[in-house]
Amino acid sequence: MVGYAFMGAAHSQAWRTVNRVYDLPARARMALICGRDTAKVADAADRLGWDAHTTDWRDLINRDDIDVVDICTPGDSHAEIALAALAAGKHVLCEKPLANTVAEARAMTAAADAARATGVRSMCGFNYRRVPAVTMMRQMVADGRLGVIRHVRAVYLQDWIVDPQFPLVWRLQKDRAGSGALGDIGAHIIDLTQFVTGQRISGVSAVTETFVKERPLSAESSGLAATVDGSAAPTGPVTVDDAAVFVARLDGGALATYEASRFATGRKNALRVEINGSLGTVVFDLERLNELEFYDATRPAVEQGFNRILVTEGEHPYMSAWWPPGHIIGYEHSFTHEMRDFIEAVASGVDPTPSFADALQVQLVLDAVTRSAELGSSWAEVAPALTAAAV
Ligand SMILES: NC(=O)c1ccc[n+]([C@@H]2O[C@H](COP(=O)([O-])OP(=O)(O)OC[C@H]3O[C@@H](n4cnc5c(N)ncnc54)[C@H](O)[C@@H]3O)[C@@H](O)[C@H]2O)c1
Repeated sequence: MVGYAFMGAAHSQAWRTVNRVYDLPARARMALICGRDTAKVADAADRLGWDAHTTDWRDLINRDDIDVVDICTPGDSHAEIALAALAAGKHVLCEKPLANTVAEARAMTAAADAARATGVRSMCGFNYRRVPAVTMMRQMVADGRLGVIRHVRAVYLQDWIVDPQFPLVWRLQKDRAGSGALGDIGAHIIDLTQFVTGQRISGVSAVTETFVKERPLSAESSGLAATVDGSAAPTGPVTVDDAAVFVARLDGGALATYEASRFATGRKNALRVEINGSLGTVVFDLERLNELEFYDATRPAVEQGFNRILVTEGEHPYMSAWWPPGHIIGYEHSFTHEMRDFIEAVASGVDPTPSFADALQVQLVLDAVTRSAELGSSWAEVAPALTAAAV
């Protein structure tokens, strides 16, 4: 694994857990973790349960006994690490968004396609697909329970940079993160809605905004310790969007709206998706991730209404290995499910999803949103991926 902070910890938790929960054809051994600071990565290895640590990710590539490289770094290093790992015959799990640019995502997808021919697998970490209620939504759409999909309504809202004094961390720098709220959280709702509906976004009209354009440099961004004496800290420009809002057409005929913001005061990690079809409506809310709301318009009119489905039965996706019905799961379990599917696919010699090609398609949507916003919200078609991808 490369990176040991937020996603490093979440993925480590999942790697530690997955073989204890699920019966799988292969067992994960947490061999080597990489970070840039020797003392911190040593501490992380100890805390998160890794056998050894290093400060150079190339050590993972060079070790013959390492089969899988899990990339949990900011987007500016995804392409370089993934390309080197695939070339060395390592299976790759890479966090979202796949890359910082379409060009990088195309190169990674081409490398993944070439590596597939030699049995090397790759996957992008859109973990919300693997929340059982979300997987179930997809099944309901595929089974025709919603009929023809007319509307998709998706929001992903946070508020962690409302304070203009919040420092200029890597997520606020285009060269490190690619984009702001758009690529960080907007990418999740793009992938999730395409996954659930089986339809792809074909074009968009967007607005984006950077509400706070200058922020204090952080220790991380300046190489300096943050000032604590009240004197004005040096500042730097925010080079990404704080919020992105767009309307979209899906290629199956649905109309969609998306809102991704880090300025939604009071909203901590509020991901909500509603899908309206000719036969019903289904709603997912991450703050109540064990539940789905379902309106079944095929029921007699006198019985119609929104039903709350508790997605904790053994028959529900991923749930058979967890607790008795009604004993709920949480955020971290989506990563355990991600590792389960990844291990199963690699060990069985099949391609896990979402593939790099799927993640490239999300990148193309991000690119279309950016282009549209730059051109005063004019309609932007999503460019073809030019490579096989299955949502
Ligand atoms: N799936 C999700 O829900 C989710 C949530 C948060 C972040 N992410 C994604 O995960 C990735 C990492 O985000 P994060 O929140 O964990 O960031 P973070 O800042 O918490 O952690 C980044 C880690 O990468 C390390 N790092 C950076 N450059 C490195 C390099 N060149 N070599 C080795 N280590 C390096 C840092 O030291 C740190 O340990 C991003 O792509 C982000 O978009 C996904």
